[in-house]
Amino acid sequence: EPEDFQHARIKLHGFHHYMQKEINEQAAIFADILDDSGCDANLAQLLDNNAARILCDIEGITLLASGSSYHAALIARYWFEALAGLPCTVELASEYRYRDAVQHHNTLIIAISQSGETADTIAALKYAQSQNHTHTLAISNASPSTLMQLARFQLFLAAGPEIGVTSTKTFSTQLLTLYRLALCFAKLRGHLPPATEAAAIHDLLRLPRAASDLAMITEQLQEWAHKIFDSKQLFFVGRHLYYPLAQEAALKMQEIAYIHAYGFPAGELIHGPLTLINKDLPVIACLPWNRLTEKLLANLQEVRARGGELFILSDAGLASAEHFNVICMPNNLHDLNPILYGIALQTLAYNTAILQKNEIDTPRYLSKSVTKV
Ligand code: AGP
Repeated sequence: EPEDFQHARIKLHGFHHYMQKEINEQAAIFADILDDSGCDANLAQLLDNNAARILCDIEGITLLASGSSYHAALIARYWFEALAGLPCTVELASEYRYRDAVQHHNTLIIAISQSGETADTIAALKYAQSQNHTHTLAISNASPSTLMQLARFQLFLAAGPEIGVTSTKTFSTQLLTLYRLALCFAKLRGHLPPATEAAAIHDLLRLPRAASDLAMITEQLQEWAHKIFDSKQLFFVGRHLYYPLAQEAALKMQEIAYIHAYGFPAGELIHGPLTLINKDLPVIACLPWNRLTEKLLANLQEVRARGGELFILSDAGLASAEHFNVICMPNNLHDLNPILYGIALQTLAYNTAILQKNEIDTPRYLSKSVTKV
């Protein structure tokens, strides 16, 4: 075996691809990030740095990002609104930079980028600064990086280097960091009842173990991959936190399995996309047990009634039936569930791309960081 191959194999620690390794590392990363009380040292450092007073006074948040980082921001919006009671908008950096967006002057601008070098996200942050927004926070897995240098405050992700072009562990770490940040805002603003905080910390402390428990469903996800890999199209659906997660799952499939995949809110099926349902269009749904379960089940009945084959990730105790494939999630971490469902969907995309025999770590036409636009 040539030496550079040996080298690559050592760095892969026995995994076949960096994406596979990076999916598998996530439980250990979460354990490293969170201390015994569910806190994150990088976040504590940010708040020590005189930021707490300023952050406490903000009246709204605007999140700027691209690609998977944008999907993480969309999920975080639900947390900033529900936990901290803060108005929150999420902007695609490539659109925001060219828009005449109007925001309250006391808005915190949060720019999120794994690489810290995405040209659109940098330009969007610069645009916000040119509009006299001085409360700016960069969240990145790269420090120093252009984005981190530009912003007034910085929050480092500590996911470790991500080599696969497809975001996996950095997406999950962005979610974890954003959730911790939402909890901090909630607490600083007197919005966090002790029971809610205790429940959140309980779930945070269970996260590393729950992420490693996902190994229990890998084989079932591989069976799903066998059923869907030669499909021409895929739909991913979800509601609430799982709507942006459906978008992220679709992006993963486009990126490495080269399948025409869409992710959208299940409640919108009836407003148009239902016409596309047929037996050759698998519909993959995230169905956690919450106040929207019944609504989502009703949406999925519409799919079944039109002959669509359903694949459901759920912790709601459903059983598989004909044309109704269910994988039971091993744990329920409530608000943190998108991290677990996200890892399961990364595993599904990985195994689907393997069956396609695609380049996993270097998908065609894409690069890890889009530094020119
Ligand atoms: C996701 O798998 C992609 N690699 C891509 O969408 C990425 O998230 C996007 O280019 C943004 O990158 P950034 O987080 O480094 O800014």
